[in-house]
Amino acid sequence: MAAILLILTFWFCISNVLGGTENNNVCPTFEDYYTIKNNSNCWYDLGADYVAPEIIHLLGYPVKIYKVVTKDGYILTVYRIPNDGSSNPHAKKHPVYLQHGLVATSNNFLALQRDSLAFVLWEAGYDVWLGNYRGTFPSEQHVNLTTNDPEFWSTSMDDVALIDLPAIFHTILSHSEPDSQIIYIGHSLGTTFALMYGSEFPEEAKEIIKMFVLLCPAYTLNNMISPYKVFAPYGNWVIDTVRELRLERIVSEAKELGRLMVPCMESPPLMRLCMQFYNLFYGPKADFGPEIIPVYFRQLPGGTSIQILNHAADLVLGNFRKYNYLPHINIQKYGTPIAPLFDVSKIEVPTYIVYSTQDWATPEKDANHLYRNLNEKARYGIRKIDLPYFNHIDFVMGRHARQLVYDPLIRVINQAVKP
Ligand SMILES: *[C@@H]1O[C@H](CO)[C@@H](O)[C@H](O)[C@H]1NC(C)=O
Ligand SMILES: *[C@@H]1O[C@H](CO)[C@@H](O)[C@H](O)[C@H]1NC(C)=O
Repeated sequence: MAAILLILTFWFCISNVLGGTENNNVCPTFEDYYTIKNNSNCWYDLGADYVAPEIIHLLGYPVKIYKVVTKDGYILTVYRIPNDGSSNPHAKKHPVYLQHGLVATSNNFLALQRDSLAFVLWEAGYDVWLGNYRGTFPSEQHVNLTTNDPEFWSTSMDDVALIDLPAIFHTILSHSEPDSQIIYIGHSLGTTFALMYGSEFPEEAKEIIKMFVLLCPAYTLNNMISPYKVFAPYGNWVIDTVRELRLERIVSEAKELGRLMVPCMESPPLMRLCMQFYNLFYGPKADFGPEIIPVYFRQLPGGTSIQILNHAADLVLGNFRKYNYLPHINIQKYGTPIAPLFDVSKIEVPTYIVYSTQDWATPEKDANHLYRNLNEKARYGIRKIDLPYFNHIDFVMGRHARQLVYDPLIRVINQAVKP
């Protein structure tokens, strides 16, 4: 199913990343950004300049890069911060797989320097794997197609959950000790893929997944507050228009989407405006500060097929199902005029949920609704973060993410893997 093309060990010349204030690229307040070059409040953050493997390497951690070829020809880039015991005396060697959400990449789990989830897990002894699903900028290759081919982008969440994930899991297990089980941690849409995979392949999941950790779970999202819900009913119309105009790549590829973000970094007022706009989607009361914005815009958008965006819109309409095509295509693909539902009650993998009351994208009500719909055997726990400031993005970029989410989560996982 999956073949490993090559394993590259990574090396870099450490560039002039350290040094004087002339290298400052982040500041703690919008005001400070006016004098960033000559301002001792500001500092240099690797995350605003580099992508995942470089960040891992420059912070002094080991990194390996794997290329996973799916059965439909996508070449996915997976990063690993290996923990085989040689460089970390606390090594537990359990593989942990981190799956990012919509229009993000694995950089999401590396945004907080040494307090990032990936490094907190590594320090705790876990063998950390970071996936990038098809169409994100690290995973834009295919054996036959290029990003200029519309077919490259005709891919939905089903393909990520049911083709990409099993291929990646197979690669992880082939590099782990015999009988290892994977601890899966997803953020936002990264949780949706887990739920879809677990519903479709409950037996396989039970065998190879130790637990699912769902940060900001996205199951049905009828209670979404974010204005994305306003657009949700028009998803099919948008897709048709994009296809007719042959704009698939322009609206999907990270490079193109990134151009839209350039103005956001032009001046401190524009930075503030862009973040306020974004936070309408994630929740306006954020814990992260202006210092993370250059990191954020370096990493997002990560690229994604517009069909995946439309599939996500279906969640907002309350449907947790395979991609819903036009009826005649559904009949060809599924044998039914409407797409079949994913039944999460089939999942028997222990599932642990963390959500926040200030999250406008994956709100409290929907997190609780998911937990109720899980099989009793799968309900490992649900934790609410109930603070005045902590939104959807704070789970990966918040100033207190480590203290509020990661450190307590390590305790939960340590307990779960105890022999
Ligand atoms: C930098 O700031 C210091 C102190 O605020 C000031 O004395 C100096 O002239 C500034 N240099 C430049 C190049 O603006
Ligand atoms: C790639 O193209 C070759 C030659 O046309 C074909 O045999 C093969 O099935 C294609 N692979 C995929 C994954 O589409």
